[in-house]
Amino acid sequence: MKVDFINSSYRRYYQAHKAQMMKALDRCFSKGDFILREEVARFEKNLADFCGVKYAAGVNSGTDALKIAYRALGCGSGDEVITVGHTFIASIEEIVHLGARPILIDVGEDGLMNVDQIEAAITEKTVGIVPVHLSGKVCDMARIMAIAKKHNLWVVEDACQALGAHFDGKPAGSFGHAACFSFISPKTLGCAGDAGGVITNDRKIYEKILLLRNHYNITQNALLGHQPKAPKIMGWGYNSRLDNIQAALLNIKIKYYPQMLKRRRQIAEKYNKGLAGLPVVLPTQQPEQIYQEYIIKVGNIWKFKKYMQDRNVELLVRDTVPNHKMLGLGLDRFNLPVTEKIAKELVRLPIYPELTDAEVDYVIKCVREYFLPAVKKSAK
Ligand SMILES: Cc1ncc(COP(=O)(O)O)c(C=O)c1O
Repeated sequence: MKVDFINSSYRRYYQAHKAQMMKALDRCFSKGDFILREEVARFEKNLADFCGVKYAAGVNSGTDALKIAYRALGCGSGDEVITVGHTFIASIEEIVHLGARPILIDVGEDGLMNVDQIEAAITEKTVGIVPVHLSGKVCDMARIMAIAKKHNLWVVEDACQALGAHFDGKPAGSFGHAACFSFISPKTLGCAGDAGGVITNDRKIYEKILLLRNHYNITQNALLGHQPKAPKIMGWGYNSRLDNIQAALLNIKIKYYPQMLKRRRQIAEKYNKGLAGLPVVLPTQQPEQIYQEYIIKVGNIWKFKKYMQDRNVELLVRDTVPNHKMLGLGLDRFNLPVTEKIAKELVRLPIYPELTDAEVDYVIKCVREYFLPAVKKSAK
């Protein structure tokens, strides 16, 4: 048996929904609907409803979502923004691109922002906090929002890996002043390439986002009935519109999304059960998380990966050097011991809804066989 890390997910999803997808493409081409048309507006409504917020704007990518959200909140030159070192580089990169300084704090063993470190990192230049809901788990938003309120800071949730996760019954992305999502193909709600979204409950922030994503052009959005009030001062914007074709594909997938999340959870539960008792650290669990990834910690990641590869199971090992240790980024002043430790231990198992039970069982069998000698030794 062969179990690949992600490609079978794309192929099987396509086979299962091909007729609908082709019909959607035909609709876009037949009408000539490519830029900021009906499918984009429909997807924005679907996204806002799914997240329980008032407004959603489609953009080009999760990276652009971050850039636009930071800018909509006024982030600029000389500002300091607190985020984590243990994240996909985009959360940090877009702070830097705006001329602001990222202030990196550590994570806990669960990979999420260590909230105890936030207040010590605040200076008179701090303007915002960017918690990252990594691997489908949500940061402690109750405490983060309380700290932000106390110090008058904005919060942008990087929820790129957490669409559909909840914290205390509330959707990820609905806590901060704005939140960002990525719909790049491997994400839980992935399109056929790149796409992203920003959500907010604040009308003013939303209007600014609509301008920023479209060259600060106040007339084009009027085509969609989104005519924002003319701002007193025009600004520099970006070309970061969500493509209408991608939106059409996402409008199909979002219908199946709750079902897809359910299947991911079933697979995670199979892994939890099947890998229990082995000398691996299983992922910490949150009751309301989604399973963007299933990450285990093993002693020798490369030996383990090779063993599984030889048995036709593809694993993903990435980011073994943490962002702040990357050469040329100028971030090595940060001391983040947990981030540094866990970067060397993490291995991702395949976890897409299209996996069959037989494939999941096969992955479990291979992992168990790998650890059998260690299990036998400890039993003696
Ligand atoms: C946590 C996080 N932030 C930001 C991004 C950037 O999203 P994109 O790749 O769509 O630009 C990603 C995903 O790639 C991510 O996982």
